[in-house]
Amino acid sequence: MQENWTPASWRTKPIRQAPTYEDAAALDDALKTIRRYPPLVFAGEARRLKDRLASVARGEAFLLQGGDCAESFGEFHADNIRDTFRVLLQMAVVLTYGAGSPVVKVGRIAGQFAKPRSSDMETVDGVSLPSYRGDIINGPDFDAASRIPDPNRMVTAYTQASATLNLLRAFAQGGYADLHEVHRWNMDFVAASAQGHEYAALANRLTETLQFMEACGLTSETTPQIRETEFFTSHEALLLPFEEAMTRVDSTSGDWYDVSAHLLWIGDRTRDLDEAHVEFLRGVKNPLGLKCGPTMEPDNLIRLMERLNPKDEAGRLTLICRMGADQAAAKLPPLARAVQKSGRTVVWSCDPMHGNTVKSSSGFKTRPFELIRREVATFFEVMRAEGAHPGGIHLEMTGKDVTECTGGAQEITDEKLGDRYHTYCDPRLNASQALELAFMVAGALKQERDARGRANAA
Ligand code: PEP
Ligand code: CO
Repeated sequence: MQENWTPASWRTKPIRQAPTYEDAAALDDALKTIRRYPPLVFAGEARRLKDRLASVARGEAFLLQGGDCAESFGEFHADNIRDTFRVLLQMAVVLTYGAGSPVVKVGRIAGQFAKPRSSDMETVDGVSLPSYRGDIINGPDFDAASRIPDPNRMVTAYTQASATLNLLRAFAQGGYADLHEVHRWNMDFVAASAQGHEYAALANRLTETLQFMEACGLTSETTPQIRETEFFTSHEALLLPFEEAMTRVDSTSGDWYDVSAHLLWIGDRTRDLDEAHVEFLRGVKNPLGLKCGPTMEPDNLIRLMERLNPKDEAGRLTLICRMGADQAAAKLPPLARAVQKSGRTVVWSCDPMHGNTVKSSSGFKTRPFELIRREVATFFEVMRAEGAHPGGIHLEMTGKDVTECTGGAQEITDEKLGDRYHTYCDPRLNASQALELAFMVAGALKQERDARGRANAA
């Protein structure tokens, strides 16, 4: 165990982005209830993800992390879960082909409820109310009652997360993710798009390969890798009373794990070295993510890495960089250099969403696909120049045909944003934009692979 750490030691530190619950007794009751509830994930699974991420850190695999900005109680439906899972499977197939190596699939799902906000208050037509902080804390409707933090929402969030995870486990292991189903994942509006056609061509090749393998005796029955897939969950560990209540000692290792998800990350607004979120997460053994925005200084990053991963364990820490397309070329190299110089092991991942949020002329918060694409491209260039492995991408996306991010092959314009703008928080890539980005990343990974091949041959 970490020195002087307990699941509650964060309580002695300054904290940001934390709701104030008015009814202390109700808060206590809700936390007692959650403490009694079973773990959502097992420590052994979190350790397996850490192993997978260790192979990403070594350059032998690629991390695909994606899902909603914020899950909500209102949009809780089996179809939404299936659609997100399905696009992630499609993207993983595309990326596996490009990288020629395994893709580690991690959803922002089954617990991604709490949201940091840039402002404590929201003002509409001269009326100010506390900001919406995600369904696990308060309600999105703009009225005073909805915006009061309600501890019982944590219990509802746990229940929704457990039902979501149950379905995801069934999808991952019950036949839906069988590679023979690769064509069936390409459905609805995506199939008709340019990306859908490109995907279908790839699926044809995969099907042929599977037929060949079957002739060699490798079938879904004989080969679980064909029949099943590994799928992990993650969310921002923002609401610490909830995370503390989900933190348990693993009977196998005697270590503390936050069993609310396999991987937990620290947001860009709550990553202060001596504050509550870093204190809490340093003590749990799950693999961790750390968001790195444009204000992250190299020295600070190294200190955070020492605090969060003192033994420099491979797979423990993923740096999720979210600089913005315009700042990435200047901000990323100093961080990469400092980490390379320190000799420490990390997974480098690119979140091209959070640094590229703009207000459209039609008044919607949006993210132009071109900026997203450009930040990913810059990430690959910088990683190559600094001799680091571009390990993964982190996306806000949905399996639905929403119109929240402009551009892409569908050419969603500012004017079209209002058609199907459904997000509870930040704008997400829709399924065909997500697939389009996957093809772009697959191309970059293939270049990496070819460059490595040439270097090895020389
Ligand atoms: C997020 O991932 O939803 C988020 C709020 O990110 P960041 O902390 O990078 O702003
Ligand atoms: Co977001």
